[in-house]
Amino acid sequence: MARKISRRDLMKTGTAAGLAGAAASLTGAKAAPTMLTPQGVKPLVISDYSGFAYRNGGPQNCVERAFEMITGGSDVLDALMAGVNIVENDPTESGVGYGGLPNERGVVQLDSCCMHGPLKRAGGVAALEGVRTPSLVARAVMDQTDHHLLVGEGAQEFARHMGFAIEDDLNTPKSRELWLEWKRRVDPDHYLNPKERSIRGYEAGLAMLKEGLIPEHSFWGTVNCDGINAQGEICGVTTTSGLAWKIPGRAGDSPILGAGLYVDGDVGACGSTGRGEANLYNLTSFLIVENMRRGRHPKDAGMEGLRRIRSNTIEERLLNNRGEPAFNVRFFVLDKNGQYAGVSMYGAGELQYAICTENGAELLPLEGLLEGAPTD
Ligand code: GLY
Repeated sequence: MARKISRRDLMKTGTAAGLAGAAASLTGAKAAPTMLTPQGVKPLVISDYSGFAYRNGGPQNCVERAFEMITGGSDVLDALMAGVNIVENDPTESGVGYGGLPNERGVVQLDSCCMHGPLKRAGGVAALEGVRTPSLVARAVMDQTDHHLLVGEGAQEFARHMGFAIEDDLNTPKSRELWLEWKRRVDPDHYLNPKERSIRGYEAGLAMLKEGLIPEHSFWGTVNCDGINAQGEICGVTTTSGLAWKIPGRAGDSPILGAGLYVDGDVGACGSTGRGEANLYNLTSFLIVENMRRGRHPKDAGMEGLRRIRSNTIEERLLNNRGEPAFNVRFFVLDKNGQYAGVSMYGAGELQYAICTENGAELLPLEGLLEGAPTD
C-alpha cells in the first residue's frame, strides 16, 4: 500500500506527521540506512551568527522562530524558512536578501537552496533578482517543479508565476552607499583587463573589510540554518546575496546542493558560509555529511571537510604569507542524533555560531582548524 503513494501525494497530506510517516514507508522499501533513526531526539536548530544577530525589528531571531515552530509541530523545513525569512527581510543585514550587497553593476542577485530530509527533495535558485526571500522561491522550486535549480531570468519568471512580488531594486541606502564606495576604489580602466580587474576588485573589497567598513559576514554574507525535531526529521536552508560586488551572474555555493547545503534525512545536515568557490570545488557539505555517515561526530566530520579545502587550495593568489588559505569558510553541522558543531578554517573574524534548544538561543564559539587570521 505505502509504496503506491506518490511524492505528489506526499505534498498533499498537509501534516508533518503524515509526511514523515509516508516518507518513512517509501524509504523503507530501499536499502537500509547507514544510521539508525534515534528515538527521542532533542529538537535543535543551528545556524551561523546572523541567525542569532538579526530580528528585523521583531521579537525573535532566526533560530528562536525556527525552534518555536519545530517544537510547536510545524514541518522542520517550514520552520527553518520562517527563521531565515527574518534575516532575509532585515535591511540591516547586508549579506542576505533585502539590503544584501549588490554585484559589480549595483544589482542585488540572490542565491538559495533548501533540502527536506524526510521527503528527500530539494530546490534552489541562483542569481535571482527582485525577490527579498530567495529561500521561499527555492522552496517553490522544490514543491512545484521537477527540477532542483533555476537561475537568473528564468528563476525570476518562475517566482512571478508563483505569485512572488518582484521589486525593481533590493538595494537599501546602506548597500547602495557601500557599492558606491567600492566602485570609487576600482579603476574603471580595469575593464580593459578582466583578470586584473577581478583581482583588484576583490582586493578593494578586502581592504574595505580590513578598514571595518563592511563586516566579514557581509562580504561573503550568508545564513545557513538547519534543524531537527523530536522525531529525528532534519532539514536545512541556506540563503545569501553572495560575494559582494561579484561579476553579474556569479553563483556561489549557497544554491548548489552538496556545497552550500546538504541534507540526508538518514544521516544529518551541513551548511556553509564563507568563500563559496572553495566550498564548490570540494562539495564540502556533501563530504561532511558523508563523513558523518561513516560514523564521525559532526565536529570531526567538519574538520575533515576543512582539511580537504586546505589541501586543495594551492593557487598562490589564494594563499597567505604562511602558505595557508587566505580566506575563511565555516560549516554548521548537525547529525541525526541531534549532535552538532560549528567549525571554521580560522578561529578569527566571525567567531561564533548559534543554536536554539529548550534552553533558548545561545552563541557558541566556532572551532577553528588553523591559528591566526586568513590574511596573516
Ligand atoms: N558562501 C557565499 C558565497 O560565496 O556566495
